[in-house]
Amino acid sequence: MTQLKLHPTAVFDNSAKAYEHIEALPLAAAMGAEIRGVQISQLNDVQFSEIRDALFRHKMIFLRDQDMGHADQENFTLRFGAFGVDAYTAGVEGHRNVQPVIKEADTRIKMIFGSGWHTDSPFMESPPAISMLFGADIPPYGGDTIWCNTALAYRCLSDTMKKVVAPLKVHMTAVDVVANLQEENRVKQARGEEAGNKGFGDMKLNVNTQKMVTGWFHPVVRTHPETGEKALYVDHTYSRGIEGMSPAEANALLGFLKEHVAQPAFSCRLRWARGTLAVWDNRICVHQAFNDYDGFRREMYRTTVMGEVPQ
Ligand code: SIN
Repeated sequence: MTQLKLHPTAVFDNSAKAYEHIEALPLAAAMGAEIRGVQISQLNDVQFSEIRDALFRHKMIFLRDQDMGHADQENFTLRFGAFGVDAYTAGVEGHRNVQPVIKEADTRIKMIFGSGWHTDSPFMESPPAISMLFGADIPPYGGDTIWCNTALAYRCLSDTMKKVVAPLKVHMTAVDVVANLQEENRVKQARGEEAGNKGFGDMKLNVNTQKMVTGWFHPVVRTHPETGEKALYVDHTYSRGIEGMSPAEANALLGFLKEHVAQPAFSCRLRWARGTLAVWDNRICVHQAFNDYDGFRREMYRTTVMGEVPQ
């Protein structure tokens, strides 16, 4: 599909606010900001309140050179709310809510964890509101993450399209992800390698695939519970149907919406470094990881914050 050419800066302001206890440096015109002047391991309440504000403003924020461990990441996550329950693995020892996202240098897989445009775990009734990822070991190049601002994507729809999508519900299901994992397992077994519940290369999964496939119906346009901002809740990985529409009708509309949300004009891209912590709001952005660093190790740690039922 041809990319739409839009110039979003007229309808969205990603400039930094003047904060008192942190500094925010916008990453791109569409979204994202680096937060400076804070160590997460020594965070105080006023700094946290400004970080939270910056997250809702910029949709994705990141902090460099963080000297932090799993307990610091857990404490920071809990400041936003209870842990999310979309755990894909059993967590790291002693920290079951900290999920290792690791690909070893010699691992070769078609699909890594987080590949393809997606919002986190929308196949659940209450998907995680916020996700964060800490970079512990980063390839010398490759392994970036890209985000797109889905509130900006919503604003860039015509008024007529806004009316069309307003009442719709999208079926979010992990059917494709599960099929891919099963295929990887089949190939491994055929080669005589360990298979079973391994998935995404080096991640040992601990998931209920049936629930993921059954999925959930959510509003195509959701309203952010804190800011009231409306955003498109559609992605490439999980959005598979529209309530009350035939597959042909849903595919046509979802085809347009999927391309629309993931335009370069709505994006920002993060080059990771060891000690970088990124935090994003799944209610107002989509993201994807790249499988472009074979030969290098990437070790990340993920936590999520429990979300509400999308409205
Ligand atoms: C994710 O989708 O949560 C993982 C993103 C990444 O590994 O860059």
